[in-house]
Amino acid sequence: MEFRSIKGTYDILPNDADRWQRIETHVRDFIIRAGYSEIRTPAFEKTELFTRSVGENSDVVSKEMYSWTDQGGTDLTLKPEYTASVIRSYIQHNLGAKSPLTKLYYLDNLFRRERPQQGRYAQFLQYGIEAIGSSHPEQGAEVITIAYELLVELGIKDINLKLNSIGSSECRNEYRQALKDFLQPHLDKLSETSRKRFDSNPMRILDTKIDFEIVLLEDAPTITSFLTLDDANHFDEVKIYLEALDVPFTLDTTLVRGLDYYNRTVFEWISNDLGAQGTICGGGRYDGLVEKMGGNPTPAIGFAIGIERLILLIKDQTTKFHKNKPHLYFVSLGENAQIASMKLSRDIHSALPDIIITNDMSVGSLKSQMKKADKSNADVALIVGEEEVSNNQLSMKPLKGQGDQQSIKL
Ligand code: HAM
Repeated sequence: MEFRSIKGTYDILPNDADRWQRIETHVRDFIIRAGYSEIRTPAFEKTELFTRSVGENSDVVSKEMYSWTDQGGTDLTLKPEYTASVIRSYIQHNLGAKSPLTKLYYLDNLFRRERPQQGRYAQFLQYGIEAIGSSHPEQGAEVITIAYELLVELGIKDINLKLNSIGSSECRNEYRQALKDFLQPHLDKLSETSRKRFDSNPMRILDTKIDFEIVLLEDAPTITSFLTLDDANHFDEVKIYLEALDVPFTLDTTLVRGLDYYNRTVFEWISNDLGAQGTICGGGRYDGLVEKMGGNPTPAIGFAIGIERLILLIKDQTTKFHKNKPHLYFVSLGENAQIASMKLSRDIHSALPDIIITNDMSVGSLKSQMKKADKSNADVALIVGEEEVSNNQLSMKPLKGQGDQQSIKL
């Protein structure tokens, strides 16, 4: 039997890993410069953490989690998202006591059992930030601006920021009822998914991709007219900041997001180049989550970006991430030569850590090692034989461009 990777998962092979590493390094450096510190939480948590935060009726919890009961009878789940886990850790370690504002970032694998397709995987790499402790619109504007500047810096074009406010839970209750009243007469015409959502989570019907439902919803009440004065003022402030900071956005009253913990500002960046999986970044405010999970009431806002989708979008634009490091290839002929080259590699690395050195360990002939050096993409071959060892020298042969072999005294 031949084993293959599980559907929805993928291998990153050596010739591609470089590109991933560079993007990972880039996004880390970018956010550290903005004053965010890394947090890493375990790959799995208690299942209840996600049912309580993301919501029992959300697609993520009801359909997409990899969950199991361990031998001790504990219900566990591979993390389908990071925010709940970050908040669990924030409360557990009392991070709020150390500073009134906690700014965190993460870059880690998550797991969702969705139907795999381009840009949608069972295991995916997510990069996100959470700013915990401020309810001010300024904080929302900062978080959104950070995502915008990163996407611009990465050269991602043709993306559109959709922005909405879903207000506080009181106004959402009223809005839900109004939406249900509007949809009730059309219930038998709605799709099965929307009929289910009608009872469990009616605002998610606004997310429909079915033409008939989209047209029907054009006349539906919008959340905007249900916002409290405070909610509306808060949202106006966010918009004023974004305009002042030149962050373009489109208002979209149908944007509700699929996770239950959000309130007030929600946003998504959509790309037209990703087909069905167009959302590259999603986020929003979640002022009630810390308290709901057992902590002191603490407002927060954050976003997350799918790295696979990012990589699909910057595939042809990676030149700025492809600064190759100098690469030396040691060809060693004989035992003493092998030892000399390995020692020399150690010395070169401690003096010049950025150089790549391949030591040929094949114990092959000069010809066969040189063939491999040529194929390796190295810049220079350093040839060491017994004679070179006794004369304390080596031969250097350029592998790219012009140039003759020369002897170098060590
Ligand atoms: P989300 O919208 O569920 O939000 O996911 C954020 C991003 O993760 C998506 O826009 C997408 O790029 C990527 N993503 C999600 N699922 C998959 C998948 N199956 N395959 C590939 N990429 C995927 C959250 O997870 C929230 N925790 C974001 C957040 C942080 N809100 C506040 N703070």
